[in-house]
Amino acid sequence: MEVIRSIRQMQEAASTVKRAGRRIALVPTMGALHEGHVALMRAARSKGAAVAVSIYVNPAQFAPQEDFKRYPRDLDADTAICKREGVDVVFAPTDEEMYATNASTWVEESLLSRRLEGERRPHLFGGVCTVVAKLFNICQPDIAVFGQKDYQQLCVVRRMVRDMNFPVEIHPVPTVREADGLALSSRNQYLTPMDRAQATVLFKALSVAQDLFNAGEINAHRLEAQMLRTVEFAPSARLDYAEIADAETLAPLHEVKRGDVALLAVYIGKTRLIDNLIL
Ligand code: PAJ
Repeated sequence: MEVIRSIRQMQEAASTVKRAGRRIALVPTMGALHEGHVALMRAARSKGAAVAVSIYVNPAQFAPQEDFKRYPRDLDADTAICKREGVDVVFAPTDEEMYATNASTWVEESLLSRRLEGERRPHLFGGVCTVVAKLFNICQPDIAVFGQKDYQQLCVVRRMVRDMNFPVEIHPVPTVREADGLALSSRNQYLTPMDRAQATVLFKALSVAQDLFNAGEINAHRLEAQMLRTVEFAPSARLDYAEIADAETLAPLHEVKRGDVALLAVYIGKTRLIDNLIL
């Protein structure tokens, strides 16, 4: 397995693979790899393509007060996981390599990005779209694999790919969870043992919504209210939002139908976690 740190080298390696008639599947990550990321790598492998994993904590998607500096970084552990999973190339650029100090071009999706996560974190999706567009230009994937864990990100990236005509197939992968339902996330490392025990309220709240919907409740407001009540049951949890939205446009709904998505963001102590479930 090759670990490439320069953009030029990565572009050359990608061109060589393409000239040999092989497809490339890219798994973009910020590292601190866990079983959720591993599921993405396995999905990429199952496509029969050469697998590239990018590992880059993208400063452009963090606001100044967010956790960019303390975001967990361990390139050695990450590359060991990639090697074990049969990844062909790890692309791990430095900040200087990725962003010129006077970089002045940004890629922005302007509709889906405005709601939910984007409303609370205005930097997020401009940063994500910009870095994903750059990674596509650098790694030249035919397929890019994204987790449903970050459901809005998946929707925004799909929209960017469609609108900008990137010749890339977006392959979604279901959320990988702990036995108690907590979705795996690099940010789970921030949780104290007490927080960790209460972090199950996210999946509990989503399951409550799912159960009520299965029992015939289609009023979005009532489902959202029940998610709020479930979250508030945990003393260290504070709800940021709980919403049911259209699975493609993320538009808010009055009446819920099968296939709509329940999304929530919750502070557990100081740690902000997100999760979602397709109803
Ligand atoms: P990161 O949070 O490292 O996630 C990388 C990919 O792994 C994303 O597609 C995310 O949805 C997926 N993922 C994370 N946890 C998962 C889980 N429990 N189950 C399934 N998939 C999971 O998302 C980012 O990085 C960045 O925004 C990035 C797209 C790399 C751009 O910087």
